Amino acid sequence: MSLTLQKDEIGILPHGGKLVQREKYGAERENDLKKAAGLKSLRLDAWSLSDLELIAIGGFSPLTGFMGKEDYTNVLENVHLADGTLWSIPITLPAAKAAAAEYEVGSEIALTGEDGVIYGVLELQEKYTYDKEKEARLVYGTTDRAHPGVKKLYEKGDVYLAGPVYLLNRPNHDDFKDFYLDPKETRQLFADLGWKTIVGFQTRNPVHRAHEYIQKSALESVDGLLLNPLVGETKSDDIPADIRMESYQVILKNYFPENRARLVIYPAAMRYAGPREAILHAIVRKNYGCTHFIVGRDHAGVGDYYGTYEAQAFISRFEDELGIQIFKFEHAFYCTKCENMATSKTCPHDKSFHVHLSGTKVREKLRNGEALPKEFSRPEVAAVLIKGLKQK
Ligand code: ADX
Repeated sequence: MSLTLQKDEIGILPHGGKLVQREKYGAERENDLKKAAGLKSLRLDAWSLSDLELIAIGGFSPLTGFMGKEDYTNVLENVHLADGTLWSIPITLPAAKAAAAEYEVGSEIALTGEDGVIYGVLELQEKYTYDKEKEARLVYGTTDRAHPGVKKLYEKGDVYLAGPVYLLNRPNHDDFKDFYLDPKETRQLFADLGWKTIVGFQTRNPVHRAHEYIQKSALESVDGLLLNPLVGETKSDDIPADIRMESYQVILKNYFPENRARLVIYPAAMRYAGPREAILHAIVRKNYGCTHFIVGRDHAGVGDYYGTYEAQAFISRFEDELGIQIFKFEHAFYCTKCENMATSKTCPHDKSFHVHLSGTKVREKLRNGEALPKEFSRPEVAAVLIKGLKQK
């Protein structure tokens, strides 16, 4: 694999050395679309469709397709691809057994969405069965089906289809079209802004004061912030992406200097895989051109499945191979005695002075139309959330 920087790969080297582009354009795309209409097809759910898109636009570089068994097994057991590149989460394409039997290895399969549109093509190199319990244990650290990622896994088809893909139509992101950039474009954006160091921030929640505090703490050391919220599939009680997107615009407009932050969507599905997902999130942001990435408390966690700093400890084991620097932050809160945002590293006061709200409590308050304490959420953000949830 070439490690030379291409002209279109401005900035930090992508994971594996080269930004993957698996998209067809122009006459070639037209021809392939015609051809694809005559192929056997597979209907992808929203999760797999977002994986296809992220492979094709280079977000998942160096992957060029859905993982074969060798890569899959290595990722599960050793947190690396078969060629030794760091990778933490299987990117696989499930199909039901009966459907999978219809496809011949060596043939091409048209990949459609739930809307029937042909989005891409898979060159089928391999089909294999897999052990769901093993995948659950190694990726999510639990086989409990109450875990949203594990639940999804058990609902998936029993066969993985593997091979290179290419994209013929991008999934529709019209709702967020002003905030959709692919990795090539974010790299260009950073160059245009003159940012040499960029911190990426993953979130599936509105930006509350603790998020803002760690973003701004990081921003003291780098040129810019890429606020990169995940807008793909999330669990049903998370705040919907459209409402969150409005809240992000409000906080950026009111509380960040215009030339220091940019909002771009991350179109992936949320796995809730804690430590393993923290590594994936960091790799993807490196591909988008970030030089730094924030991992705070219980990154990509859910319920009590992971320890508060388990993701930080896990990612620390692989930091030499990551190629993106990790900003690790302690649990942040507002201290009424300090009259400031703080962490246990900076605040000497008793917990009784700290403003804490659980995610469940926040959602309950918002759904009841109750204001959130201003020590927890900027009032402008809370107002957007209350209005948005009322309308749903
Ligand atoms: S996540 O599932 O996307 O990680 P969330 O949107 O809540 O969830 O978190 C975004 C980032 O902020 C993660 O890196 C997380 O660890 C961090 N974070 C969230 N809340 C806090 C907090 N109170 N203190 C420190 N870091 C936090």
